Amino acid sequence: MENPAIKGKKLAAGKAIEYIRAGMTLGLGTGSTAYWAIQGIGDMVKEGLSIKAVATSLQSEALARELNIPIIPFSAVDHLDITIDGADEVDKELNLIKGGGGALLREKIVAAVTKFYIIIVDESKLVDKLGKFPLPVEVAPFAWELTERKLAALGCTPKMRMAGDQPYLTDNNHYILDCSFGTIHDPALLHRQVSDITGVMEDGFFIGMADVIISGAPGGEVKVISKNGKV
Ligand code: 5RP
Repeated sequence: MENPAIKGKKLAAGKAIEYIRAGMTLGLGTGSTAYWAIQGIGDMVKEGLSIKAVATSLQSEALARELNIPIIPFSAVDHLDITIDGADEVDKELNLIKGGGGALLREKIVAAVTKFYIIIVDESKLVDKLGKFPLPVEVAPFAWELTERKLAALGCTPKMRMAGDQPYLTDNNHYILDCSFGTIHDPALLHRQVSDITGVMEDGFFIGMADVIISGAPGGEVKVISKNGKV
């Protein structure tokens, strides 16, 4: 039997790619859910759909190239029509925590120029309040210890993300501190406080950016939740 979480991810991805039209420029997300969207877009390209795309990570770019999805450099982009990406947590106001896959900085740059930003998740990612998932914070390796202390002063326990016995390095050669705050009651305020710390390159809060959340459940149910309520 198919893993239930994978089924939810595939269903959400399948629904999201229905929004794509010929001629669009797309943002390709990162992670195990975005993977299924990229696969689906690859199939559409194979069937003759003409689109262009930018990727939010080297990993997604490599996958897209394997699938013959035309990749353009970010320098060639003014706006993106649609981006489809995953998330680690989604609250009732459609605020997100992202960055579990380490691509948060590129993901936020891409999200910020996207006209219609679609987030795809399996239903386990939908939460009342953000914070069970530690907030990923991308920091400059130079003086990271100072940045860590400033983050801790906001009330969290930062933990260096590791790759074996070395700090994990993002595609931008930065470190990630995973910050456990517990339940977060005011994500917009905390986002401002975290991003005000010099040394923080980006945090994993995506506040008010998502236009639509598409969640898939193992039983086959797909929910589309827009800013204006369920559609
Ligand atoms: C990568 C991300 C991913 O979208 C997020 O971690 C969700 O990943 P997955 O779909 O594998 O659960 O933000 O930086």
